[in-house]
Amino acid sequence: MKIIAVKNYEEMSSTACNLLIEKINQVDYPVLGLATGSTPEGLYQLLIEKFNNNEVSFKNVKSFNLDEYVGLKKDNPNSYYYYMNNNFFHLIDIPDRNINIPNGLAKNLQKECEEYEEKIKQANNIDVQILGIGLNGHIGFNEPGTSFASVTQVVDLNNTTIESNSRFFKSIDEVPRQAISMGISTIMQSKEAILLVTGKNKAEILSKFIKEEPTEDLPASILKNHENLTIIADEDALSKFNND
Ligand code: F6R
Repeated sequence: MKIIAVKNYEEMSSTACNLLIEKINQVDYPVLGLATGSTPEGLYQLLIEKFNNNEVSFKNVKSFNLDEYVGLKKDNPNSYYYYMNNNFFHLIDIPDRNINIPNGLAKNLQKECEEYEEKIKQANNIDVQILGIGLNGHIGFNEPGTSFASVTQVVDLNNTTIESNSRFFKSIDEVPRQAISMGISTIMQSKEAILLVTGKNKAEILSKFIKEEPTEDLPASILKNHENLTIIADEDALSKFNND
């Protein structure tokens, strides 16, 4: 595990952007695992800028998103399909056929999960997985208590996540209670993982993560056993760990 301590959100985003571009330019057909949420927005903006400056192309990139809410239509601004198109995909040259996001509207959600997991395997697993961390230590939507052996599955969101994500919705009642999420073992099979952590509100969980042995109570903690994990964390996120 490598920790890159950076000053702020901008530096976190640019450090991640440089690592990702290096990988995309190194590998012939890169497979990226992508996250949504507030954390990677700056990273996507920078990648778009680099694309516009002809410093990177996504023509040969295949992507797999970590998760999607159950029951939100693609044109719902809170769906992760909408987020990814709006913040990233429609502003770069990634072919539509290379984009994979779990379908939270599938009639048979179980089948959707199995097929998603299979597609990742068929792609020979993810080369670089971008991750954020939830206030409760979740990665993807794998809430505390999720088995480290889990694969892509339908998950129930817990109260911390519902409350935290309600900031994007008109009211907390509108936040879906379920999602499809890549499993923890799926995430662990990625060849490289980059965990982005920013802000004072993540200081507590990041400090726990760094100090504790892997436990299913803190899903992200399994990443300590990942063969190639880089954490890029800003001063605010590291403030508790540095002061303990
Ligand atoms: C998003 C995801 C989540 C977020 C986490 C942090 O696809 O899988 O695990 O990374 O909830 O969210 P933000 O970045 O909004 O703090």
